[in-house]
Amino acid sequence: MRPRSVRPPAGLVAGLLVTLAACADAPRPIAVIGHRGASADAPEHTFASWDRAVADGADWLEFDLQRTADSVLVVLHDDALDRTARGPTPACTGLVRARARAELAACDVARWFRERHPEATWVDTIDGRIPTLDEILVRYRAHALYIELKSPESAPGMVEQFLAALERHGWLATAEARDRLLVQSFSPGALQRVHARVPGLRLIQLVGDSIPEAAVEPTLDSIARYAAGIGPSGRILTPRLLAAAHAKGLLVHVYTVNEEAQMRALIAAGVDGMFTDRPGLLRRVLAAR
Ligand code: G3P
Ligand code: CA
Repeated sequence: MRPRSVRPPAGLVAGLLVTLAACADAPRPIAVIGHRGASADAPEHTFASWDRAVADGADWLEFDLQRTADSVLVVLHDDALDRTARGPTPACTGLVRARARAELAACDVARWFRERHPEATWVDTIDGRIPTLDEILVRYRAHALYIELKSPESAPGMVEQFLAALERHGWLATAEARDRLLVQSFSPGALQRVHARVPGLRLIQLVGDSIPEAAVEPTLDSIARYAAGIGPSGRILTPRLLAAAHAKGLLVHVYTVNEEAQMRALIAAGVDGMFTDRPGLLRRVLAAR
């Protein structure tokens, strides 16, 4: 004998329908990743830039790690100092890995921004020192950090040193803190080493070059063994790559998206997040959905 169906009270049905309707209408969350902070509006990789990204509504504060000759992890995009560092000594030029941390102390990574934006006189008043990883892990301890390991092949032991810093500052102590970290790299080897040591840490495999059609599936299968997602350049993202990544449960965070039309197109396409120099703009575009 079939059991008699138990009807939920009418009020409960109505409540469920309202909830389902609200879910259907709720826009899909899309991560706003402040690329080097809010680097269209402030000098990249300065506290002013990340503070602006926070004020503009970024979900994630993105930055790149380099290592000095005396093994200090510092925050700078380029392997070389020349593009963004200015200073009184020749030590503010050349490769970061050829300079000791103390040599970098007098370098300023804010001033170059005024060469591009002479009207930004406020830049003269901000802290233009090259930040260390330790400083960021402390200053932004309540925020969500999206950290790139740059050139880890040139810095043996960088992964272990990086994880030790996260540990030292309590970022690995709880699931809540770990969930506010994403670690990205173009180096599969570096990410695999992170995954082997801290399996609970979410990783994003950056992808700069197109993946040949026949290699899409095996490449994504390989990435899915250690990473939570891919970070493709906007130049190489195709509907096929997006769909294949999603089919394997991988997030897709696209870099670097600064134009409103491209933001709208990527939102419509179904990406999970974007790296942008203009987090305020992306936040406004998302709010207008
Ligand atoms: O980290 C994503 C994107 O930032 C990779 O490119 O060169 O800006 O670090 P890049
Ligand atoms: Ca980066």
